[in-house]
Amino acid sequence: MASVPFDQLDGFIWINGQFVKWADAKIHVLTHGLHYASAVFEGERAYGGEIFKLTEHTERLHESARILGFTIPWSVAEIDEACRQLLKKQGFADAYVRPIAWRGSEQMGVSAQNNKINCAIAIWQWPSYFDPAQKLKGIRLDIAEWRRPDPRTAPSRAKAAGLYMICTLSKHAAEAKGYADALMFDWRGYVAEATGANIFFVKDGKIHTPAADCFLNGITRQTVIDLARRRGFEVNERIIEASELEGFEQCFLTGTAAEVTPVSEIGPYRFEVGEITRTLLEDYTAAVQPKRAIAAE
Ligand SMILES: Cc1ncc(COP(=O)(O)O)c(C=O)c1O
Repeated sequence: MASVPFDQLDGFIWINGQFVKWADAKIHVLTHGLHYASAVFEGERAYGGEIFKLTEHTERLHESARILGFTIPWSVAEIDEACRQLLKKQGFADAYVRPIAWRGSEQMGVSAQNNKINCAIAIWQWPSYFDPAQKLKGIRLDIAEWRRPDPRTAPSRAKAAGLYMICTLSKHAAEAKGYADALMFDWRGYVAEATGANIFFVKDGKIHTPAADCFLNGITRQTVIDLARRRGFEVNERIIEASELEGFEQCFLTGTAAEVTPVSEIGPYRFEVGEITRTLLEDYTAAVQPKRAIAAE
């Protein structure tokens, strides 16, 4: 990514039903979403001009808003259509898509019952979440001090802006030590996920991933589980104890931005970029290709 600040990129942003010039997509300082994190968002990727699992993402955006107690005034179909139109308007085949919905400025305070619900979509080019050279060798993860919260403490199933506070803190701490990202444990001390991606392990030919009971059940996570099962691999979604990290042979992350990213280290533990990881990386790369390209083969 070029070092141009995000508010100075080119093109258009869809905001509350209108396409506006990128530089004009502004909100007021007194916005509830900014002060109280009353905002939910999505991260999607377009491949070859098609947004992968677009409707699943838009449905999750609506569900995240519902969990935060508000209703987005645009239907799933309307947001899907706005994403598709914006992708065309931006002229990108491969791109990252960021819809966001937030409470506006009508009331400032913890209570914001009457605030208008706003919605925007931005699309930009974001080739690789991790350094591409490092990605194939496996990235290095720190172990975060922050833990994924108990679902009784935070709305952990929502892709809500406020939940990323501990992710940014953990990622910054990891980067300061030279790591690419961090593994977060959950409130009970079980293995949970990275700061913006789910985690998988391989041992004795079997795949293990933490049960998504207090963090986002990623759309990529579900896609990769499906691809692995179709290949005949056993996938165990279960509680994973911290003490098990030592015994795993392979590890990889999954996420819309991260795609399938092999992991070579987590703190003192080492992993190889093995056959199963490589197979699933290739299967995922094939799965995200637009259906019409596959149909044309
Ligand atoms: C904290 C967190 N966990 C997991 C994921 C993976 O979710 P998905 O595969 O739906 O992108 C993401 C990315 O959105 C994330 O930010």
